[in-house]
Amino acid sequence: MRIKDHPILTFPERKKVTIYYEGKPIDAYEGEPIAAALHAAGVRVLRLSAEMHRPRGFFCAIGNCSSCLMEVDGIPNVRVCVEKVRDGMRVTQQKGKGVLPPVGGVKK
Ligand code: FES
Repeated sequence: MRIKDHPILTFPERKKVTIYYEGKPIDAYEGEPIAAALHAAGVRVLRLSAEMHRPRGFFCAIGNCSSCLMEVDGIPNVRVCVEKVRDGMRVTQQKGKGVLPPVGGVKK
């Protein structure tokens, strides 16, 4: 859900892009954080905690808490509350601590 009309605020026109969450296409707007696009699409659980595998979502929304770590284009531990969308990017739920890609490349 997105706010489209507001009595005080205005929302400038932005380019629509597509990102993929678990392989499913999701509409996003250029310049918005990944987490905002996922939230607008109804995705609330961003990762499962490392020890107890409990669901985690938005918490601080300013890049300070690590609650929103996800795997983005094969790179784990990306704070999606502050990382901006790019057309065609692939986002997956991170389970546990995430495995870092080998030096010099993203896993395929
Ligand atoms: S929600 Fe806290 S770092 Fe993203």
